[in-house]
Amino acid sequence: MGIATLWRLGGRGIVAARRLPLGLRPASTSASATSCRAVLLPRFGGPEVLEVRSDVAVPDLKPREVLVRARAVSINPLDLRMRCGYGRCIFEPLLPIILGRDISGEVAAVGASVSSLDVGQEVFGALHPTAVRGTYADYAILSEDELTVKPASITHVEASAIPFAALTAWRALKSTARITDGQRVLVIGGGGAVGLAAIQIAVAAGCSVSTTCGSQSIDRVLSVGAEQAIDYTAEDIENAIKGQFDVVLDTIGAPETEKTGINLLRKGGHYMTLQGEAASLADRYGLPIGLPAATAILLKKQLQYRYSHGIDYWWTYMRADAEGLHEIRRLSTAGMLKIPVDKVFPIAEVQKAHEVKQKRRVPGKVVLEVA
Ligand SMILES: NC(=O)c1ccc[n+]([C@@H]2O[C@H](COP(=O)([O-])OP(=O)(O)OC[C@H]3O[C@@H](n4cnc5c(N)ncnc54)[C@H](OP(=O)(O)O)[C@@H]3O)[C@@H](O)[C@H]2O)c1
Repeated sequence: MGIATLWRLGGRGIVAARRLPLGLRPASTSASATSCRAVLLPRFGGPEVLEVRSDVAVPDLKPREVLVRARAVSINPLDLRMRCGYGRCIFEPLLPIILGRDISGEVAAVGASVSSLDVGQEVFGALHPTAVRGTYADYAILSEDELTVKPASITHVEASAIPFAALTAWRALKSTARITDGQRVLVIGGGGAVGLAAIQIAVAAGCSVSTTCGSQSIDRVLSVGAEQAIDYTAEDIENAIKGQFDVVLDTIGAPETEKTGINLLRKGGHYMTLQGEAASLADRYGLPIGLPAATAILLKKQLQYRYSHGIDYWWTYMRADAEGLHEIRRLSTAGMLKIPVDKVFPIAEVQKAHEVKQKRRVPGKVVLEVA
């Protein structure tokens, strides 16, 4: 998504509301949907810069967009990094912005071309990493492709923890590495949300999964289907793991995990890191220099590892994927894809929630409930 297409705050209200269940008024006629409560990021900094405001404008819906009444939004590491200035080459000129990618809630209104969702349905989904108007708000706007129907068996809090992390894992394992039944997959950093989603997606695809994680995460990764869990704080990973892998997903992306992951791949295997350098180089040097520099670094690494180890090397990024989201919904409905939520805060306590997540005072997902 280019900068010119990013949404700006402001606008005049909602333009379309379709079939309504009994008792619901179209959001277009509701005064609360032309402006709403939202968490604004007016400048980069610590959790204290986040402002809960009650008068933030809700923009008009474009034809393929959906207005979602938020019930729960989860906090991703990207939210914390954006708050600190990550992506500033895109976001700084657009401040104040609204943080947040994940959402679970109800459809309040739909754009004129939306065909798969109706007002009143419970949905969950995630915004693209560069979206400016995020989900930390009473009303969020997502495209139809970024949403799907929420499984009835899980709560909004549980649902909000899933889409961004699972779509990231999906993109790496299914869209990039194209994992198949019987392959061996190594997830480096399996204890986090993306790691847990990756383990479950790989297991559901028929792969056998090994993973590295902290000691407190071992029961968690084994309970979702990993066959082997190595405590990276206590064991040497290369010694502890036997054999070679078809696919390595590295959620940590440090130089030592990259080295380990690549050494453990078979020839022709895929190494994928979530810590690509495109955004950080663009922040440092500006988009016109930073992006070509990132492309050059990636190409150099791809050639280097192809030559030295015979493997495919990738930087992988979350991307909206309607088919992936549909499959994620199917797995969640079947109880085969869960991401535990460790702490819930009301959205008004967003500063505290960011602090808890940043200082890693809770092991896993932190969710904001939107009353
Ligand atoms: N490229 C993309 O599009 C994309 C998308 C989503 C996420 N990400 C990135 O991927 C990473 C994981 O995201 P997430 O949502 O899974 O985060 P998360 O739920 O907060 O999990 C992070 C996990 O990483 C492990 N960890 C943290 N610091 C570590 C360290 N210094 N050394 C080793 N392990 C460490 C911890 O596992 P243990 O508790 O087991 O130690 C922690 O639970 C983040 O850096 C995030 O920014 C990138």
